[in-house]
Amino acid sequence: MVDLLGRADWQVVELMLGGGWAAPPLMGAEYGREAERVRTGTGLTEVAALRYLEPLRAGGSLPGVVETDDLGTYVVKFSGAAQGPKALVAEIITTELARRLGLRVPELVLVDFDPAVAAHEPDPEVQDLLRASAGLNLGMDFLPGARDFAPAVRRDVDVSPAEAGRIVWFDALVGNVDRTVHSPNLMVWHQRLWLIDHGAALIFHHRWSGAPDAVARTYPMSEHALGGYAPDVAGADRALAPRVTVELLREVTALVPDRWLEPEPGLDSPGQQREAYVSHLAARAARSAEWLPDGFATPAELAEREARRTAATLAGRPAWLQHVRG
Ligand SMILES: Nc1ncnc2c1ncn2[C@@H]1O[C@H](COP(=O)(O)OP(=O)(O)OP(=O)(O)O)[C@@H](O)[C@H]1O
Ligand SMILES: [Mg+2]
Repeated sequence: MVDLLGRADWQVVELMLGGGWAAPPLMGAEYGREAERVRTGTGLTEVAALRYLEPLRAGGSLPGVVETDDLGTYVVKFSGAAQGPKALVAEIITTELARRLGLRVPELVLVDFDPAVAAHEPDPEVQDLLRASAGLNLGMDFLPGARDFAPAVRRDVDVSPAEAGRIVWFDALVGNVDRTVHSPNLMVWHQRLWLIDHGAALIFHHRWSGAPDAVARTYPMSEHALGGYAPDVAGADRALAPRVTVELLREVTALVPDRWLEPEPGLDSPGQQREAYVSHLAARAARSAEWLPDGFATPAELAEREARRTAATLAGRPAWLQHVRG
């Protein structure tokens, strides 16, 4: 029985037993999947792709659903995508930090991908991406039956101010501006929220020379997907800021494969880069009072901003296109 259950199923069992929602990483070994998996030097489990099922066209980076040799199904973010390896670095550091702070995130694995397993895929754009992604890629456990969270629809998921506060606080810490009412990057699975898509976080790593100025920067959070859920950001700050320690950050940055930490001016080695992430995020957590988000847009304000954006878009179009929405 135990061997037949995937890790995601065990997370649900845990939830039902009241075990909380901070699943420890690498549970696979405990539940009998060790035999099919290979541990890499980085600490993330490595699996091999057996079959490419389909592209997820909702995602700008064209992630794909892939079956692997551990009997798992993963959403794979490809190393050959235009977003580049930094998006994968951001996914690993932020997802694994979120997990250790008690937020719900899918399991991450490294997926060894041979484009031959997708020979049947007819779309030439997808084929180009897959051919450029032979070798190591990043997989996140596919959540079967999950749906994208719609902030305005308060039907089947309860989000408490405490939970909303922790998620908003976390996004502000890691500079994730890609969890808005327009693009929530939250999934509802078994009536709970799960965080996905952190590739746009850690904005500072796109220009390390400017990173010191970003340590205490405030990021625009007023249109956060959970801004309407009375987020208790101050409570989250008291609970979470002390937990973002140098030791914890070293643990999560160690999970990034060396090959995705490409040399940068002044940061020649993967080790130097890891330390740069650690010291930046530790310093930022220590200065949280300077960047705590507040002032979330009301539904009326959101509607007004949306109307203004639509008007500006239409005004930029030729007369014959002005009646077309979107
Ligand atoms: N772990 C998962 N389980 C099930 N569905 C998922 C999972 N991860 C992503 N999806 C689905 O795929 C869509 C795209 O995923 P994601 O947002 O991570 O891709 P992306 O390429 O980074 O997209 P974006 O255009 O937002 O940058 C999600 O909105 C969701 O519907
Ligand atoms: Mg997304």
